[in-house]
Amino acid sequence: MSEFSPIPLLIPALPKLTALRPYLEQIDANRYYSNFGPLTRELETRLAGIFENHASHPMHVTTVSSATTGLELALSSLDLPRGSLVVVPALTFVATLTAVIRAGFVPVVADVDADNWLLTPEIVRESAASTGASAAIVVSAFGQPVDTALWSSFQENTGISIVIDAAGGFGSQWVQATDIPVVFSMHATKSLAAGEGGFIVSGNHDFIRHITELSNFGINLDPSAGLPVGYLTHAGSNAKLSEYHAAVAHASLDNWESNAEKRQSAYRRYRDLLNDACGDAIIWQKGVELTVPNMLCIRLGNSEARSKLEDHCKRLQIATRRWYQPLLHHHSANISPLVAMPCPAAEGIASGLLGLPFFVDITDIQIRRVVDAVAQAVSQQDYSTQKQLTRKRHGQYSDIH
Ligand SMILES: Cc1ncc(COP(=O)(O)O)c(C=O)c1O
Repeated sequence: MSEFSPIPLLIPALPKLTALRPYLEQIDANRYYSNFGPLTRELETRLAGIFENHASHPMHVTTVSSATTGLELALSSLDLPRGSLVVVPALTFVATLTAVIRAGFVPVVADVDADNWLLTPEIVRESAASTGASAAIVVSAFGQPVDTALWSSFQENTGISIVIDAAGGFGSQWVQATDIPVVFSMHATKSLAAGEGGFIVSGNHDFIRHITELSNFGINLDPSAGLPVGYLTHAGSNAKLSEYHAAVAHASLDNWESNAEKRQSAYRRYRDLLNDACGDAIIWQKGVELTVPNMLCIRLGNSEARSKLEDHCKRLQIATRRWYQPLLHHHSANISPLVAMPCPAAEGIASGLLGLPFFVDITDIQIRRVVDAVAQAVSQQDYSTQKQLTRKRHGQYSDIH
């Protein structure tokens, strides 16, 4: 790889054929391809065990075809009247919004905390008081975990139902509360990747069983439910995870610890170098240190600084992305009905936000090239002087990968 070859924003890291083979052979032997086959069941048990290691109570998991369908089904399972209002943060991926609309509800787009970029109980309480919202999707934006115990007591005290969208949070987001469903993604770009897929974690067994049913069209699967098995109980969807996706997820989990360590150490190093090179020019999302970072997103002081960095990275063939933008309420007017609350903090954050290249195999040289680019863009120095400096620094570190 040349010193100046392009640096992509992310490179998915999925298991290779050798790691997949034992699971694919199991599929061949089982001749079970979907509909809660043995690999899917085993995956749910494995995942529940991982969450139980971080909880003081039994955990239950059901797999789904994506986090988006998981969010839709989790919302549907709340049995709220059609047209109910659901608070979502302005700063999130569009799937949080589409899930609300497709579940038959109306999104209330609310502001986020200026420091940790997440919804807070105060924001949800105020948004619900002024709109009549009866539920909220709290998002672990950029993988920053949310406090499930805090949201559980909020739910109990206010009657506002909470669903957590932790699509990119596997490894950093744990589930301490028994009554708050948490939805994860296994999309190819996530730290636990199956290509496509997702799962929902909850301490409530009945809730998880209900979601399983909804993911299978809403057909009753329980002989003791007072209704014959095979009868439709609700209008569900087909959101089942196939055995092939479960196979990939198993192989990903087998390599999980090693990938998680690589992600964490690359992220720490990146962040330290950015802080050394740019000091106060970078505003970081506040919160806990991520155990398994999935992306790296920085905030600059204003939109001009962000544009300057984008242009500079483009010249250097370094990919960047304005993650989670436009903010939800700035999408097409066709996305309606939608209630938009004032979002001054989210607007301020979004104006300077930029995702930088981050992936499990990112090399030290790539990290240093990005850090140099950021340092050059945020400083007032002339780029050509900086370029020589950059070359010199790369020379110094060319033995590090
Ligand atoms: C916050 C958030 N919610 C939901 C999703 C959707 O996940 P999936 O692709 O598994 O449907 C994503 C995907 O990146 C996300 O970032």
